[in-house]
Amino acid sequence: MNTILVTGGAGFIGSNFVHYLIRETDLNAVVLDKLTYAGNLASLKGLPSNRMTFMQGDIADATLLDDLLPKVDAVVHYAAESHNDNSLHDPRPFVDTNLIGTYTLIEAARKYDVRFHHISTDEVYGDLELDDPQRFTETTPYNPSSPYSSTKAGSDLLVRAWVRSFGLRATISNCSNNYGPYQHVEKFIPRQITNVMDSVRPRLYGQGLNVRDWIHANDHSSAVLTILERGQLGETYLIGADGEQNNKTVIESILEIMGEPAEAYDHVVDRPGHDLRYAIDSTKLRTDLGWLPQYSDFRAGLEATVQWYRDNEPWWRPQKAAAEAKYQMTGQ
Ligand code: NAD
Ligand code: TYD
Repeated sequence: MNTILVTGGAGFIGSNFVHYLIRETDLNAVVLDKLTYAGNLASLKGLPSNRMTFMQGDIADATLLDDLLPKVDAVVHYAAESHNDNSLHDPRPFVDTNLIGTYTLIEAARKYDVRFHHISTDEVYGDLELDDPQRFTETTPYNPSSPYSSTKAGSDLLVRAWVRSFGLRATISNCSNNYGPYQHVEKFIPRQITNVMDSVRPRLYGQGLNVRDWIHANDHSSAVLTILERGQLGETYLIGADGEQNNKTVIESILEIMGEPAEAYDHVVDRPGHDLRYAIDSTKLRTDLGWLPQYSDFRAGLEATVQWYRDNEPWWRPQKAAAEAKYQMTGQ
């Protein structure tokens, strides 16, 4: 392998992966990104131009893919509409990108016989009770709740069918909630950090007992690279770092880290269909491929993330007002 096409490489996790690839390997990256509201070229700033090239375009553009796919050795597919709250108000772009876009890409990967890795989410499995001793595994039945997670589930199933019916050389990973630098301010952790920086009280949906299984974006990147290099074709791997936290605890931690009273937040109207708990059992990835997360201290990772948003206000400031305007319409 020499050159990887990274779709959605100007988004949160995709840009972290491109930085990781350039820093940790000799591989080169071609980034294909539509630059929707969620894409930001500034997230790729500073990368060497002899190793990273950027192409603005839509993954649903088959003509563009006919040009790009013959030039790369593998595709890592991050591009998606990724925010649950948006999917509840305007599902159409989720169908267009997550389903039609993924379909167009795997057709191109099949045509040019290019190794394909599909990035997905644990949200395809639905949710767990707070006291359920089980966690999600690769054999948990799909049961998505939202337009976002149902289109991601559909895209996973397309990839599986292309593997079985057409011999697509593909792997799939389903990861838990990511945090770290370059995450859009619409998402939970950066929204609260930047609210506190703006002297606005953080917003907790409902009672805030919902649990997410947090993983640092760098650990997600190392897992994807491991699967790309050593994963078995046709297999699915769950990625998680044993980082379960409820939302209330996360908000309180952010407030403490930022020197504010832990109770200085507001409860706001809950998300419709709000998944209660996600939890990943990543035994298969750890046992079969020997992967281990490096960022096991969530509190330390959160402190570093707070510092990153403090240090990088010019990166997030242009997106903040529009993100908050969307939330204002729902009282959140
Ligand atoms: P993001 O919204 O930050 O980035 C998505 C990127 O895709 C943006 O740069 C956007 O411009 C680009 N894009 C959107 N539509 C496109 C199209 N039609 N053609 C080309 N580019 C397009 O999302 P993220 O949080 O970085 O998520 C990346 C991937 O990881 C998604 O597939 C998501 O489902 C998956 N994932 C995310 C999480 C998480 O916690 N954020 C967890 C597990 C899996
Ligand atoms: P989010 O970052 O949207 O990720 P996901 O819905 O994919 O898990 O939200 C993480 C959790 O935080 C989720 O339970 C919803 C909750 N949340 C809030 O309590 N307040 C907020 O302002 C946001 C954006 C999310």
